[in-house]
Amino acid sequence: IEFESFVKHMPKVELHLHIEGTLEPEMLLRFAQRNEINLPYKDIESARSAYQFKDLQSFLNVYYLGASVLREELDFYELTKAYLQRCKQQGIMHTEIFFDPQTHLSHGIALDVVMGGIRSALAEAECEWGISSALILCFERDRDAESTVSLLHDAMKIGGIAGIGLDSAELGNPPRKFQEVFQRAKNLGLHRVAHAGEEGPPEYIWEALNLLKVERIDHGVRCLEDSGLVERLLEERIPLTVCPFSNVELKVFPDLESHNLGKMIDAGLHVTINSDDPAYFGGYLNENIISTVNCLERDINDIILLQKNAIEASFCTTEKKKQMF
Ligand code: ADE
Ligand code: ZN
Repeated sequence: IEFESFVKHMPKVELHLHIEGTLEPEMLLRFAQRNEINLPYKDIESARSAYQFKDLQSFLNVYYLGASVLREELDFYELTKAYLQRCKQQGIMHTEIFFDPQTHLSHGIALDVVMGGIRSALAEAECEWGISSALILCFERDRDAESTVSLLHDAMKIGGIAGIGLDSAELGNPPRKFQEVFQRAKNLGLHRVAHAGEEGPPEYIWEALNLLKVERIDHGVRCLEDSGLVERLLEERIPLTVCPFSNVELKVFPDLESHNLGKMIDAGLHVTINSDDPAYFGGYLNENIISTVNCLERDINDIILLQKNAIEASFCTTEKKKQMF
């Protein structure tokens, strides 16, 4: 209990969070009604009972269906503001937020509607609560790479993007598909991250590092299958944004006790804990930290290490980093 209170009160950083994954059932149904979107859920309970996944793809189907209720700038604003309110409650002082513009564009929603709503909430949270943030535009890897460069340029015209990421269905969609847009992003001075080694093999982590030149790997839990890769991750001190509840819900590990986070820490890897899609996976950052550390029988030193890792791995200003250390 003492340790739970320690976790709750320590200043924290979150580095792997999909804003569409913070859509709680209450808000989902409210937006669906407001925007006259038909959902297969008649109430909050039936929505929650649909949140049972056998793998990443079965989750993504539910996640994109949920995202389809987001239509107006106000929806994106309210969604983001609600997550930032959680950050305030949870003691998160800096957060790096992914969004998936392509799914919204496919519904005919303009990019400035999506980004405008998210950015107003981010600006307010910084001003009102001192919570800083970085916005990361994710490309959906199970779509064509063709339109990604023009999408990146559209986003740059709007402004407020700190970096780009790569998410969605990993198997069969290797990082190499997105080499061009990642090169462009690098030339534009943007940060680069990619989901790799969640369901996909260690080769995808190699590709993300070598071809996409990413600064962090999202998930990366399958890296332990390749000792040469572990060596590389150690040499370059590449951060890995691990999401324990997500990995269990998507059956990457059968339960929290079997998660390899402890082994990753013991290998000296630069690991962090994150919530990924908290509305779907049963908990926000504090719940992820507390349950994981309990189940893996780790201690307070690991919590301090994990949060120091997160601060170091973040894209926030050095001034803010000093303030949090
Ligand atoms: N989009 C939202 N959550 C994701 C995850 N865990 N992996 C890949 N794409 C995602
Ligand atoms: Zn993710």
